[in-house]
Amino acid sequence: MAAEMAMLKPVSKFTPKLGTNCPRSQHAKFFTITMSTASPQRTTAATTAAKVSKKSGKTQIQETLLTPRFYTTDFDEMETLFNAEINKNLNQSEFEALLQEFKTDYNQTHFVRNKEFKEAADKMQGPLRQIFVEFLERSCTAEFSGFLLYKELGRRLKKTNPVVAEIFSLMSRDEARHAGFLNKGLSDFNLALDLGFLTKARKYTFFKPKFIFYATYLSEKIGYWRYITIYRHLKANPQYQPYPIFKYFENWCQDENRHGDFFSALLKAQPQFLNDWKAKLWSRFFCLSVYVTMYLNDCQRTTFYEGIGLNTKEFDMHVIIETNRTTARIFPAVLDVENPEFKRKLDRMVEINQKLIAAGQGDGSPLVKNLKRIPLVAALASELLAAYFMPPIESGSVDFADFEPRLVY
Ligand SMILES: [Fe+2]
Ligand SMILES: [Fe+2]
Repeated sequence: MAAEMAMLKPVSKFTPKLGTNCPRSQHAKFFTITMSTASPQRTTAATTAAKVSKKSGKTQIQETLLTPRFYTTDFDEMETLFNAEINKNLNQSEFEALLQEFKTDYNQTHFVRNKEFKEAADKMQGPLRQIFVEFLERSCTAEFSGFLLYKELGRRLKKTNPVVAEIFSLMSRDEARHAGFLNKGLSDFNLALDLGFLTKARKYTFFKPKFIFYATYLSEKIGYWRYITIYRHLKANPQYQPYPIFKYFENWCQDENRHGDFFSALLKAQPQFLNDWKAKLWSRFFCLSVYVTMYLNDCQRTTFYEGIGLNTKEFDMHVIIETNRTTARIFPAVLDVENPEFKRKLDRMVEINQKLIAAGQGDGSPLVKNLKRIPLVAALASELLAAYFMPPIESGSVDFADFEPRLVY
């Protein structure tokens, strides 16, 4: 997984509170990054992750509606969906072919660091440094979220459908690499996310399998378009290259593209998720959630995008339009994001979101702050609804002859 799906939260099943005195967080070690996975079902949850500096100073990820989340699902239903005796739409030969592709492991030797990383980090100062660290943290969390979900799916589907299970395990291998590489990047800034603690302590958002398919497909594809767009921009404008991690994005994003293609194959094997009016409504809902989440998040971080020479809104609209075009190949309906009215609505949401953030800051009682927020939340909801009900574009087909090309560029 590469992108964030933070606003999406139809059902939240795992939200118990945990005290902040978790022993694991007290003793988190700087360089102990382990990619072990704990079953989300067994998870005791908390809302914070430890981030520990070399000087032992601790800070925490600030959890908001837009923070990347961890996901879990109904694994029993997943097993039913991928049981070839029950589901006659499963095209096992297609999955076999995909498995061979994942086994090839194109990026096995890609993620190798060099001394440029630390030197570049040391040179980065001021607001860009701060926002860049946040970029690394959020990206690492989003990648790690994919690792956890895919790892668990690989484990749970082993008996029912070993081929699909192995693909999930190999995708978790990719995501572990991505998260690990980003976390190594944080070490250049004398920071690290304790991913073992995150695994156990963070709350998991529950999605039914069909929602996992929509959301994860979109997350992979939007991640692909974000990475390739940044890569191509910095290749053409190397004077904006602040840190070598972006040079790795070209091959990296092909992992995300392959992951998205796998979800496309999974969706084709579940035509009930693509061929009725409910599927159209959910498709549009997930498109909107993913696009709005990205737009609002990025517009809060223009320092980062401007720091690498991009216009934040132009970059986001390019990513949204390309992702939407890709998604239209499989989803039965998508949003008309190329209608200028869609961008106008996004921009109004940004304004409202800025006011919402301002309303929560400063002095004043929580009651007063909440009262100030009510009309703003209503205005944001009304913009979201208006965007959702814009005339959609009918799209998709479950009768694809072939896969999407492996390399788009
Ligand atoms: Fe990834
Ligand atoms: Fe991915």
